[in-house]
Amino acid sequence: MTAFQPGGFKFTDSPDPAWTFGASSSTTHFGRQWAEQETQGWKTIDTSQEDPRYLYALSISGIVPRPIAFVSSISAKNEENLAPFSWFNQVCTNPPIISISCTGGSRQKDTARNILETKGFTVNIISEPWAVQANAACIDAPAEVNEWVVSGLTKEPSTSIAPARVKESAFSMECELLQHIEVKNAAGGLAANLILGTVKYIHVRNAVLDERGLVDPAKFMAVGRLGDVAYSKVGDGFRIPRPAWAEEKEKLQDQLGDVLWTTSGNIRSES
Ligand SMILES: Cc1cc2nc3c(=O)[nH]c(=O)nc-3n(C[C@H](O)[C@H](O)[C@H](O)COP(=O)(O)O)c2cc1C
Repeated sequence: MTAFQPGGFKFTDSPDPAWTFGASSSTTHFGRQWAEQETQGWKTIDTSQEDPRYLYALSISGIVPRPIAFVSSISAKNEENLAPFSWFNQVCTNPPIISISCTGGSRQKDTARNILETKGFTVNIISEPWAVQANAACIDAPAEVNEWVVSGLTKEPSTSIAPARVKESAFSMECELLQHIEVKNAAGGLAANLILGTVKYIHVRNAVLDERGLVDPAKFMAVGRLGDVAYSKVGDGFRIPRPAWAEEKEKLQDQLGDVLWTTSGNIRSES
């Protein structure tokens, strides 16, 4: 095992800085190496025939890296709860909505039950320096066990809801239940509770903000979820501008000609 190295984020070139519209990825050495793996073919999985345990392990290793919502909630009986959820993402920002999926199966997650009971919850983004503490909160302890105490993390009162936010988190959101969807399994049981929450307040540490008021990934050191019990750090980043049709359409037509248009009947399979 190599010793843990914290942080270390920097921006590099994109994987293909000289790329032009329509050029395949095999114009770079990196792209050619990647294409060579095609000789090994594909494994195709029919999800309706597969062992659910393998499907789970495969899916969480393939859909990566996932952001992690570290959720603090509270039950109707005032039992506090803290747990991480990586089936999490932003749905939209106007209005600001996030989604979290809590699986059902043998037991309903305390987090889902709490959110349905009391509506308010906080979502805290985890950074490297306290990832170990956050991980401890996924313990499958009875609802009466306080994961705040288990994890060693610190409660900071929220502005608008009862559950506290995590003081160690550089980016926390106070959320309110907007909608909840019960996803059923083939036997009609609960597969997952999909929670949609409206973000009411965002608390972001000044120390991680850049001069534009945005989160600087080098300072934030957020972690993500990989397969098995693995976490990802934010490694080096690269920027690729979003192409805008209005600015690029002439160049696209010049470079690609009629094949550009789906109506031309041309399907380009190789370059
Ligand atoms: C990083 C990480 C991500 C996780 N993501 C999810 C998830 O998206 N959905 C889920 O149901 N459980 C997920 N889990 C497992 C829950 O955190 C775990 O079942 C926890 O005990 C639930 O706590 P609760 O019953 O107190 O709500 C994850 C665990 C870890 C460590």
